[in-house]
Amino acid sequence: METYTPGYSEVAAAFMARRRLDPNGAFFLPHLKLGISVLDCGCGPGTITRDIARQVFPGTVTGLDFSVDQVALATREAKARGIANAEFRQGSVYELPFPDNSFDAVFSHALLEHLKEPVRAAIEFKRVLKPRGMLGVCTPDWGGFLLAPPSEKLLLAFEAYKQLQNRNGGDVYCGHKLGLYVEQAGFENIAMRSRYENYDPLTVIGDFLAMNHDEIGDAKNAATWREWGRSPKGMFSQAWVACTASKPR
Ligand SMILES: C[S@@+](CC[C@H](N)C(=O)[O-])C[C@H]1O[C@@H](n2cnc3c(N)ncnc32)[C@H](O)[C@@H]1O
Repeated sequence: METYTPGYSEVAAAFMARRRLDPNGAFFLPHLKLGISVLDCGCGPGTITRDIARQVFPGTVTGLDFSVDQVALATREAKARGIANAEFRQGSVYELPFPDNSFDAVFSHALLEHLKEPVRAAIEFKRVLKPRGMLGVCTPDWGGFLLAPPSEKLLLAFEAYKQLQNRNGGDVYCGHKLGLYVEQAGFENIAMRSRYENYDPLTVIGDFLAMNHDEIGDAKNAATWREWGRSPKGMFSQAWVACTASKPR
């Protein structure tokens, strides 16, 4: 079993809560038709899930997360906004708590890169999808990102973060493997694409990466990320890879 690298600190929660269906899940918009049922796996604080609810209304969305606290937070925030067609459940993507053929679409953003067994998760996605149902998954791929300014210290911090996520069972290069994973899980009509995200202000990503190093007592690399996040010459352009595929009939 893997360890979820970012954890659930305030910095991590605020970092995830910035995300929205557009731009983060925009690649899946053509498949989010009115009236359909959607499962959002690894929903975190549920900001993307709420946007899906608005998009498919009067359809429904179920957000699923491993963390009881994230499920409670997502439930509270959806309720506070009067969103009645979203519900949240605790559970693991390795054993989804739903019968076969339950959903028209399954979506997952920024989860598979943290999993030791992404194909096992994709097999579960397929199981709960209805025949011809659509899957949309998206993860970063650190093979494609642009880090500025050029700096030996930054590269060392990058290497240390990569090793941390690998040790925890994840893979910072997950993005370009998504098509292989869903093919191995038995999906068809696979399509891949990518986009870049520029973090502005840079402190958002600098402090988030620093926090990951703080949590393991790595003060040196935490300081590097924090200092870099405040540099006017800094840039972090992250490559996100999205993959869509359908369950065979
Ligand atoms: C990086 S966050 C992404 C949250 C949200 N999808 C977003 O993009 O902002 C990943 C989420 O997946 C959850 N998670 C990690 N492992 C999981 C598992 N095996 N099953 C279900 N959820 C999991 C974590 O608790 C976390 O909330």
